[in-house]
Amino acid sequence: MNTPEIFFGGAPEALASAPGRVNLLGEHTDYNDGFMLPVATPQRTEVALSRSHDDQHHLYSGTLDGNVTFAAKGGSAPQGFGSYVEGCIRLVEALGVAVPPLRMYVTTNLPVGSGLSSSAALEVATLRALRQLLGFELDDVKLAQIAQRAEIDYARVNCGIMDQMASSLCDERSMLFIDARTLEHHLVQMPPDTELIVVDSGVPRTLAASKYNERRAECEEASRKLGVKALRDVGDPETVETLPEPLRGRARHVVLEDLRVLEAAKGVSAERFGELMNASHDSLRDDYEVSIPELDLLVNALRAAPGVLGARLTGAGFGGACVALCRAGHAQQAAQAALSTYNKAGRQGRILIPVPTQGKEQQ
Ligand code: GLA
Repeated sequence: MNTPEIFFGGAPEALASAPGRVNLLGEHTDYNDGFMLPVATPQRTEVALSRSHDDQHHLYSGTLDGNVTFAAKGGSAPQGFGSYVEGCIRLVEALGVAVPPLRMYVTTNLPVGSGLSSSAALEVATLRALRQLLGFELDDVKLAQIAQRAEIDYARVNCGIMDQMASSLCDERSMLFIDARTLEHHLVQMPPDTELIVVDSGVPRTLAASKYNERRAECEEASRKLGVKALRDVGDPETVETLPEPLRGRARHVVLEDLRVLEAAKGVSAERFGELMNASHDSLRDDYEVSIPELDLLVNALRAAPGVLGARLTGAGFGGACVALCRAGHAQQAAQAALSTYNKAGRQGRILIPVPTQGKEQQ
């Protein structure tokens, strides 16, 4: 296993990091030009960079203990985590910045594949490290947009803007209100005296990509039928009731989810925030149909735990993690209680937040 000292032969020239995200409200709204309220994870991805002395980019993941090398100019596209990094480099070059051959060392304590946007964290940390090393101007919104392009064009994931905006602009203690159409954004305080719990269901998100694209197409069709640019523009929620199924349910979820975010962003009590999270999950389960029995089981276990005010799946669905809002001081105990109920049903869940103090995630 390489250490940064061995890899760089000394200290790196630039060092940057970025968090993942947990979305609290506003799921499947970003590609409908809507609203969302994510928060940053305490877990982060770190990128160290130096110039290389040959004509190749050399990447090393301390987490995967894996190397990726690709030509600084031309050559074939790298695979795996290298595709996200290549995207960031090529898109920075497209801004007119000369990027020299690089040595890059990446580590993360973010769980990969749990739906906490480890890919956005890698993109944002890479772009921050490039900005620091090369000294070009790039504001944090533009940076998020480039990170999203890297994911779409190079990693071939047709995502919205939420994850990259969250990784670029969120902190751990506040939610970030995002308007996906205008990219207007501001921090919103967490409901008073609350803490978050995030538990991974242990179910890989195998169907997520194909179903995600299917949902996007359904939303576009619903917008076309309603004669609006995007579902964000549906003024009266009753309008969607004229649509045939499954478009009716899909559009109902998006329109009501936007209203939930707008209400929460004004500042509501902890109890009301919990109710909005519960309503969000129920709508994702029944109308948007992106939940699975394991996520429903975990959400129910979280809701039944002492001090929990509301719980829902977080991210695209079809596996990954669930998030709960809980009264301050109860998170650890409530997470344990929910996990033990869930795992008794033969599942392999694990607590991601509060970050376990022993045996911290190192993937
Ligand atoms: C994934 C995508 C986001 C967003 C969510 C669902 O995380 O990357 O852009 O669409 O799903 O809310």
